[in-house]
Amino acid sequence: MGYREIHQESIRDPEGFWHKQAGRLDWFEPPEEVLSRDDRGFYRWFRGGKLNVSYLALDAHVNAGRGEQTAIFYDSPVSGTKSAYTYRELRDEVARAAGMLRDLGVAHGDRVVIYMPMIPEAVIAMLACARLGAIHSVVFGGFAANELAVRIDDAQPKVVLTASCGIEFDRVIPYQPLVNEALRRSEYNPSHVVYVRRPQAEVDLEPGRDLDWQHAVTEAEPADPVAVDATDPLYILYTSGTTGKPKGVVREGGGYAVALNWTMEAVYDLHPGEVFWTASDVGWVVGHSYIVYAPLIRGCTSVVYEGKPVRTPDAGAFWRVISEYGAKAFFTAPTAFRAVKKEDPEARHLEHYDISCLENVFVAGERLDPPTYEWLADTLQRPVIDHWWQTETGWPIVANPMGIEPMPVKSGSATLPMAGYDIRVLDDSGRELPAGEQGNLAIKLPLPPGCLPTLWNDDARFRKSYLDRFTGFYDTSDGGYIDEDGYVFIMGRVDDVINVAGHRLSTGEMEEVIGNHSSVAECAVVGIHDELKGELPVGFVVLKDGADIGQEALEQDLVKMIRDEIGAIAALRQVAIVQKLPKTRSGKILRKSIRTLAKESRDEVPTPSTIDDPGSLDEIAEAMQAHGIGRYAR
Ligand code: COA
Ligand code: AMP
Repeated sequence: MGYREIHQESIRDPEGFWHKQAGRLDWFEPPEEVLSRDDRGFYRWFRGGKLNVSYLALDAHVNAGRGEQTAIFYDSPVSGTKSAYTYRELRDEVARAAGMLRDLGVAHGDRVVIYMPMIPEAVIAMLACARLGAIHSVVFGGFAANELAVRIDDAQPKVVLTASCGIEFDRVIPYQPLVNEALRRSEYNPSHVVYVRRPQAEVDLEPGRDLDWQHAVTEAEPADPVAVDATDPLYILYTSGTTGKPKGVVREGGGYAVALNWTMEAVYDLHPGEVFWTASDVGWVVGHSYIVYAPLIRGCTSVVYEGKPVRTPDAGAFWRVISEYGAKAFFTAPTAFRAVKKEDPEARHLEHYDISCLENVFVAGERLDPPTYEWLADTLQRPVIDHWWQTETGWPIVANPMGIEPMPVKSGSATLPMAGYDIRVLDDSGRELPAGEQGNLAIKLPLPPGCLPTLWNDDARFRKSYLDRFTGFYDTSDGGYIDEDGYVFIMGRVDDVINVAGHRLSTGEMEEVIGNHSSVAECAVVGIHDELKGELPVGFVVLKDGADIGQEALEQDLVKMIRDEIGAIAALRQVAIVQKLPKTRSGKILRKSIRTLAKESRDEVPTPSTIDDPGSLDEIAEAMQAHGIGRYAR
């Protein structure tokens, strides 16, 4: 069957389609119902089915005689380490780590927070939780203590699994001070913290609470996989919303395993035994799905890379790793390729490596800008596949189905909807728009398996954020259009979420942090185009009457506050003091006009009819010029 028939079948008969896909996995007990609705009216996939995702990812392959195949390669230029684990070795490590968690009182349904750099123990920790039916919540290592504290309070984990440090290029980032500070700030107290001790940083274990990973794992008896319901949460992954409080996206094991397994073949064209390298981080959804769960469920070999695209040690890092491990497919964010292109525009490093193994390159996380696409396609002479997805969906909504039927690429489009996604473009009143017209991208319910069933402990926010705006649809908060051939073009977020170097961040959260400065009366943070990182946050601040602080001192304070409260990845560097923010007469800040002013001159930016003072827009334009912001960047 070709792509269009498969997609149509998945929309016409979702239950039949996904039932067939579910049959390809090794269930402990098959589902009673493929698709159902729970007592809250939320759609659920594979109710009554019992399985264990760690079993599917490990034991099933060992039992099938593939135990000696490499499951993961670990490659860490920042620590000068390389290692490999076969499926059998990884299963045994995971079983022992699960035994350690069980000894610490972790059982089915309990939460475990994982705050780790890109080391094998991060993968082992996730699979160990899955083995017990415990729910992991991985927190990206680039988040500061406060972000960790917020997640600990929301998830209430029995245990935190962490490491003594992360390594950024050549800079060691000790984690213990961050973890201790998070625990000091959180109201909820986990009973234990387990540290993977790395030689680059020591830890000082607090007796009774803190444990040494190696020691605890060695003492533990291996744990067998526990049969869990397909509808039980496998993990919670927090992601930025429009407010300071992150959203806990819940992922259920059954639907996720079925959907990921389908994508490995249909989208990524990968088969058991082949090598997949996703250069991301286990702290992001891309890392959960395509470093850990999908490649292992599919019986592929996954590369766990602790390094950067550049300066570890050079802009040839990607080509080295692809050639060294024989990656058939490679997946990263466009920003990573922009970093490579900036340092090595002629791709001279490529001359030193044989990357003939590589068949397809996939990118996601932010818009693939045409210059980067062209550079990549020219340099690599291979298909470069843009695909669109969100933490909420866990797998691509729109992609090019390379394993079914590679479709012609259209520049600027992420190509076509994947199985089960019925995408419509709606205007603000919910009316469907014709082909070619830009509006809100919405997905007709039910969402396919693997997408979020709700938010952790917050059904009301789930309804409000995703379901209430357009009845019968999931609101993606992305804008875009669909052309006559069904190709989907993503134009970017329509809310206050921004994408900085492929990292999803909330400008609302940054505004809350800035608002806590004693001199700040009010502020607006907007995402402004950046050549390398896609977007960068910039703050416009109105001072309190009588505040005695200069521009430079304020900027320094605010940059530090954002780093301390959210993390260095938020990358706020520029702040401008203004007398007044542009607002509507009802007091809503006109962020869109500010964003447009960063791209176009004041003459070209229409003054909204609802504005209370057109002079405030002039002042923003002047501030941008004075501070070298956006189009005035020096
Ligand atoms: N732990 C601690 N700090 C981290 C971190 C982590 N895991 N990740 C990033 N940071 C820090 C960086 O060290 C940097 O700190 P600095 O301001 O003190 O220098 C800051 O956060 C900003 O990081 P980043 O935005 O990554 O910029 P960079 O200049 O260090 O690197 C790139 C630029 C393009 C190389 C890098 O952003 C990259 O590889 N991006 C790909 C992102 C990605 O894979 N996203 C996943 C979606 S698929
Ligand atoms: P995250 O939840 O971190 O994966 O971020 C999801 C957001 O990233 C989406 O809502 C989009 O705004 C953006 N995004 C992801 N992939 C793409 C893509 N291929 N093209 C454009 N934007 C993308």
